[in-house]
Amino acid sequence: MPTKPIIILGIESSCDDTAAAVVKNGVLLSNVVADQHVHEQYGGVVPELASRAHQQNMVPVIQQALQQAGIDKEDLSAIAYTRGPGLLGSLLVGASFAKGLALGLNVPLIEVNHMQAHVLAHFIKDETSTLVPIKSVQISNQPSFPFLCLTVSGGHTQIVMVNDYFDMEVIGTTLDDAAGEAFDKAGKIMGLPYPAGPLVDNHAQRGNSNAFTFPHPRIPKLDFSFSGLKTAVLYFIRDELKKNPNFIDENIQDLCASIQKTIVNILLDKLKTAAVEKGINEIAIAGGVSANSGLRAALEKMKQDLDWNVYIPKFEYCTDNAAMIAITGYFKCLNNDFSSQKISATARLPL
Ligand code: KG4
Ligand code: ZN
Repeated sequence: MPTKPIIILGIESSCDDTAAAVVKNGVLLSNVVADQHVHEQYGGVVPELASRAHQQNMVPVIQQALQQAGIDKEDLSAIAYTRGPGLLGSLLVGASFAKGLALGLNVPLIEVNHMQAHVLAHFIKDETSTLVPIKSVQISNQPSFPFLCLTVSGGHTQIVMVNDYFDMEVIGTTLDDAAGEAFDKAGKIMGLPYPAGPLVDNHAQRGNSNAFTFPHPRIPKLDFSFSGLKTAVLYFIRDELKKNPNFIDENIQDLCASIQKTIVNILLDKLKTAAVEKGINEIAIAGGVSANSGLRAALEKMKQDLDWNVYIPKFEYCTDNAAMIAITGYFKCLNNDFSSQKISATARLPL
């Protein structure tokens, strides 16, 4: 008798993206994300508005994910959801929906740590169907254990020592702002809308990264700090604007290139130190900031200079998504690691 496939629905709602994905026997069948534009006018995520938008988007996003995967909800083996870390109101929407659905379908529930899922995004396999009825599984180049993962997003900056799927240790973290926040806040100072990271990246590609110099913090061990950079950018621009009111418009590309270079250098300095300390050259990056062209180019260079094996997930698996929640749920399901209805969402959740 053929064995029943393991089909996991993943639900992600930790910040401002409502996402759902379906994974069957470890292969991604669908990955749907609804982002929330309501925050742009406020220059950052407004938690109350995010929760409301999750409420509106949750059902259509899940329906779309099931439909695209060609899966009936009755076929689901388990429901995986992001338990934390993140915005509590946002997390509660996804967690409540997951619990209700699991109860209704009488299937197990799997809680997923969002940061662990960012790391495990490296193990997402996707299936692409072509017009001819041939299905091919694309297994991207995956890191082998142990590896180091630099997880850089709008909420987190961590260097993670990954010994196995569920054996991870944070060996370096930010003491204040996250790397994505540094991009977003510097962009905001220059009048760019939220989230400014991709726009800074875009301008930076046409700018001179040596035009302006910003301070590089001296933080002990493998930790990071970005709040000093934000203040330095703020004061520098304020002083320049006094001399020339058009300073930002006339220098936006050079400003973005110089700020980006500083952030990338801060990240890479610590990553290099970690690689030497741990004697590891398997290096992965994850999280929204891994989409940054400057960071990717710098890692390419490390590949040559330091003989690193570098792993960068596909763009859609770098930013917040539910494919990473579903694949993490799949691995947990294989371990029979299910969670109780009594477990609640939590804004802070260690790795
Ligand atoms: O992982 P993510 O989608 O959500 C969080 O968990 O925070 O990361 C979002 C962050 C934002 O701060 C955004 O500005 C940044 O990633 N980001 C970028 C780029 N694309 C997204 N930062 C720099 N360059 C990019 N190309
Ligand atoms: Zn994230």
